[in-house]
Amino acid sequence: MAARSGVLDVFVVGSCMMDLVSFTPRLPRPGETIHGNRFITGFGGKGANQCVQASRLGATTAILAKVGQDNFGESYIKNLKENNVNTDFVSQTDGVSTGVAQITVDEEGQNSIVIVAGANLFLRPEDVGRLEEALVSSKVLVCQLEVRPETTARALRFARRHGVKTILNPAPATEDMDPELYDLADILCVNETEAEILAKQPVRNVEEAETVALSFLKHGCQAAIITLGPSGCVVAHNGDPTPHHVPSRSVQVIDTTGAGDSFVGALAFYLARRPDLELVEIARRACMVAAVSVTARGTQSSYPYRSSLPDVLF
Ligand SMILES: Nc1ncnc2c1ncn2[C@@H]1O[C@H](COP(=O)(O)OP(=O)(O)OP(=O)(O)O)[C@@H](O)[C@H]1O
Ligand SMILES: *[C@@H]1O[C@H](CO)[C@@H](O)[C@H](O)[C@H]1NC(C)=O
Repeated sequence: MAARSGVLDVFVVGSCMMDLVSFTPRLPRPGETIHGNRFITGFGGKGANQCVQASRLGATTAILAKVGQDNFGESYIKNLKENNVNTDFVSQTDGVSTGVAQITVDEEGQNSIVIVAGANLFLRPEDVGRLEEALVSSKVLVCQLEVRPETTARALRFARRHGVKTILNPAPATEDMDPELYDLADILCVNETEAEILAKQPVRNVEEAETVALSFLKHGCQAAIITLGPSGCVVAHNGDPTPHHVPSRSVQVIDTTGAGDSFVGALAFYLARRPDLELVEIARRACMVAAVSVTARGTQSSYPYRSSLPDVLF
């Protein structure tokens, strides 16, 4: 059953995308038609991914998102419901397609991707205005940058004003990100590539990640987390001059797609449900959840449920 508003742990303002994945012997050249071996669809979009992971861990969740009035939109809403996500704030926009990512993967695992944001770009600041009652009583707001930045900014500003904790995953990252967004983030969470783009300096190892995480605090966020794939993550927060490295468990890697979103979703879950835990411990547990997600294929299809995880994580 969907959660009633008023008791939400995690509210996400963000994207829904259908992944359309073709597996081919090699990538096509311009003007060329080739035959693939296999085709699958998957549910993606950073906003929805993070929301679904938080929900599977047991958080009550809702998402503000837009999809098209098409088959993809219908099936996306159904997918959210099946994941126990409240869809009261998901609407179908007329005359525009659901966001899609057309992905071609060759036999070496190389890919080429075309993203059409579609309905995601129709999510406007006014839409945030309409959900303020639900947002005010949520514990955590999670935002990314796959929808218009002014929509993200409005949601974060509102949450901040009402004491709702904010997580910003500024992805995809741009060099010219609005500096106000740092101030609005209780936790800024990025991967290595995004950290490099934002900080304009290399993040190749734990030490460089620690330096960059500290530099993010100077920009105004309360805490910064940089995820480092198999090396786990680095956590820095205000009032503590020393950053912490949290190693990840070593696992049998099958497919890392969506690991970053699994991490952010788990982070939101713990922040809402275990505010008693230190941020470093929250990050350690989020690493454990994300590490499980790389042991199965796909994006949302690889995200673990609470029932499959050890009790000590809860
Ligand atoms: N090979 C791995 N082994 C163990 N844990 C991993 C591995 N890859 C990712 N993780 C876990 O997932 C978290 C996020 O991974 P990562 O930093 O690669 O994010 P990402 O680059 O945004 O992910 P992706 O782009 O693949 O969706 C890591 O902090 C770690 O906990
Ligand atoms: C970080 O995430 C972006 C998507 O926002 C992705 O394109 C990039 O490959 C990721 N970086 C790493 C090191 O996985």
